[in-house]
Amino acid sequence: MSIVEKFMTMDYGPAPEDPREALAWLDRSGRRFSHFINGTWHPPTNGEYFDTTDPSTGEKLAAVSQGSAADVDAAVKAARAALPAWQALTPHARARYLYALARQVQKHSRWLAVLETLDNGKPIRESRDIDIPLVARHFYHHAGWAQLLEQEFPGYTASGVVGQIIPWNFPLLMVAWKIAPALATGNTVVLKPAEFTSLTALAFAQICQEVGLPAGVVNIVTGDGSTGEALVKHPEVDKIAFTGSTEVGRAIRKATAQSHKKLSLELGGKSPFIIFEDADLDSAVEGLVDGIWFNQGQVCCAGSRLLMQESVADTLIGKIQNRMNTLRIGPPLDKAIDIGAIVARVQMERIQRLVDQGVAEGATCWQPSIPMPSRGLYFLPTLLSNVHPASVVAQQEIFGPVLAAMTFRTPREAVELANNTVYGLAASVWSESINVSLHIAAQLKAGVVWVNGTNLFDAACGFGGYRESGFGREGGREGLIEYLEPIWFKEAPPVRAIPLAIDQPPERHSNVSAPPIDRTVKLYIGGKQARPDSGYSMEVRAADGRLLGEAPLGNRKDIRNAVEAARKAEGWGKATAHNRAQVLFYIAENLSQRRDEISGRLSDIVGRKQAEQEVSLGIERIFSYAAWADKFDGAIHNPPFRNVALAMKEPIGTVGVVCPVDTPLLGFLSLVMPAISLGNTVVAIPSEKYPLIAGDLYQVFETSDLPGGVVNIVTGRMQELTKTLAEHDDVDAVWCFADEASAAAVKALSVGNLKQTFTNEGRAIDWFDTKQGEGRWFLEHAVQVKNIWVPYGE
Ligand code: NAI
Repeated sequence: MSIVEKFMTMDYGPAPEDPREALAWLDRSGRRFSHFINGTWHPPTNGEYFDTTDPSTGEKLAAVSQGSAADVDAAVKAARAALPAWQALTPHARARYLYALARQVQKHSRWLAVLETLDNGKPIRESRDIDIPLVARHFYHHAGWAQLLEQEFPGYTASGVVGQIIPWNFPLLMVAWKIAPALATGNTVVLKPAEFTSLTALAFAQICQEVGLPAGVVNIVTGDGSTGEALVKHPEVDKIAFTGSTEVGRAIRKATAQSHKKLSLELGGKSPFIIFEDADLDSAVEGLVDGIWFNQGQVCCAGSRLLMQESVADTLIGKIQNRMNTLRIGPPLDKAIDIGAIVARVQMERIQRLVDQGVAEGATCWQPSIPMPSRGLYFLPTLLSNVHPASVVAQQEIFGPVLAAMTFRTPREAVELANNTVYGLAASVWSESINVSLHIAAQLKAGVVWVNGTNLFDAACGFGGYRESGFGREGGREGLIEYLEPIWFKEAPPVRAIPLAIDQPPERHSNVSAPPIDRTVKLYIGGKQARPDSGYSMEVRAADGRLLGEAPLGNRKDIRNAVEAARKAEGWGKATAHNRAQVLFYIAENLSQRRDEISGRLSDIVGRKQAEQEVSLGIERIFSYAAWADKFDGAIHNPPFRNVALAMKEPIGTVGVVCPVDTPLLGFLSLVMPAISLGNTVVAIPSEKYPLIAGDLYQVFETSDLPGGVVNIVTGRMQELTKTLAEHDDVDAVWCFADEASAAAVKALSVGNLKQTFTNEGRAIDWFDTKQGEGRWFLEHAVQVKNIWVPYGE
């Protein structure tokens, strides 16, 4: 072919990357790998190995150890033993280790990229230009956080020994996302890579040795799901960080419910890719290539649901098909390849099964006529159009190069379709109008939104999901908090399992105490006082046995009504923070006016001294959260691209609050006020010892312009009501500050919709101590961070 002819076609031949260095490294290990425990290599105790293969050829690369419970135990013990010395280091010393890891990754970047491509099947272009540079970036960024830790997180300490379980789609990048923040905050780690892709994690272990990381700070145990399970169940692990399927995420939530392990879950997604008619369609199509064909579509935040405005749908489909015809699929070590191999046969089969099901449900399947390699695990890029929003291919994560296309007419319909999923990991919005883009971004239930972009990641920007895509963030300040706990909380004693202590004999208050029997309160639902569905009441007695009044015995139905009312009141989250602050100040004012009356009644149950303190501190606490309402701001992250990421703190939604027993007023206010100050709506179960406080509270709320449904109160048997709240699929979070068993029950029952849980772990919290009873710790649990990436600057 002449040069002129070449210029006419712009065709190019193969440009293979040289794998020799990576293969030589495998050879040096004898193609057989041990676990990395306590700074050295340990063969598996049971002598079992399994093969890891190159999915583009099917050839075996090496044998990897199958981790047993004994191996996991040895690794956890090593991490535990290493913890005190690692924590005793200065932040600067830890920062230097992280910096050294970043440098060493950079120095070995090509070897790591090739090894990653060999083991995973992803194009070398991606492992070389995206995965590995991001790994280095993650360690650099977190070297900085290690340095600043004490200044930026005073009063916080590391969780301790962290168990980390990662998937196979970004093997080394997930190692970095997990290990860098854990080490920066002073934790030690046991990490289990995915069974299909263990090699770069083992290469990273070697890098840890090379930089002289103290033994036991990082341990790598390879193996399958059973190894992961052993790590999750190990009693000496303080926190589990997991990335993978929602199904396994649920199993881990359940398995850790009875323990005090902190948990973060980064799970699946079915992210919408929304193209408006005013978008730059050619850019959007290029975006789509990165959105769904990047990494063969094996990306948790892949833009797998294409939502097109109807007016441009036909044009777009034509452009997409044209572009698909130019995609190159083939050996991933070829630098000119767009789509590499699928990680494993079981995944190939799963993708095919789902596509077949989509077609059976009415979708039209289109694939380009492009050359396919004769061997290896390859799946053609696939476009499914005419997809019904309820179809399996519109709802289930396919985790392959398959795009499911649908249309919409109005922006409102786009939002409805986009949010019509159990997931909430990410979304892309394409429009040339900044008003349209940001208006839509605000309404999407997703942890990451890219405006006119897709699949952008950075160490400075939080990544993680809403809803069944999990909870917790990775990256940025919001990611660090997942590895930290308040020092006082770690040291807090268990909650007293004794009845209320009365510090003084109850007194009669001539002008305020109600006649003993006719003080009957009601439920408070949707801004109205309501009788309980059961028609029953429960007696409330003072410690000396006197009957103080009766409270409704709420049941499942009352909780359901209250949740419905709370959901309807979610406009509260869109009210301005200034507006919410005003309402809270007003609540404090009205509580203050009824101070004597309320503390008089409360003193029958907690004694006068505590009652007075609860009211006066309660007023202060409401003031604090009125103050915070417009000050607990988000941030603007600066990733090293032509973007900024707006880290918006959004309310979680409907929050169930199980209040502490022995501080009926202050406990209620300490939990409900931070939740509503940041825009959540609440269903609260007040102290079972003194549910009559509900009557005082709703009278205050009714006179304070609090919109109906923002706070709902259901009195009754705490355990029964808590169970209904924790199981309810329309509740987004449950905060439970009662006893240890209730905290465990809430976590176990939350698995249905994977709602967030925030509990006292059965530990005693001194609500009278401002350091413990109020502040950022509560506020952080009242929001989820949405990172909106916006193009910015030149
Ligand atoms: P998976 O969730 O089973 O595997 C992820 C990790 O969890 C692996 O390290 C695995 O060994 C470990 N694991 C498995 N069972 C466990 C258990 N009971 N306890 C503790 N750890 C356990 O994902 P898999 O089977 O590799 O892929 C299946 C589907 O999951 C994919 O088709 C995709 O839809 C989804 N997935 C989503 C990912 C994401 O990033 N959101 C990543 C990987 C898979």
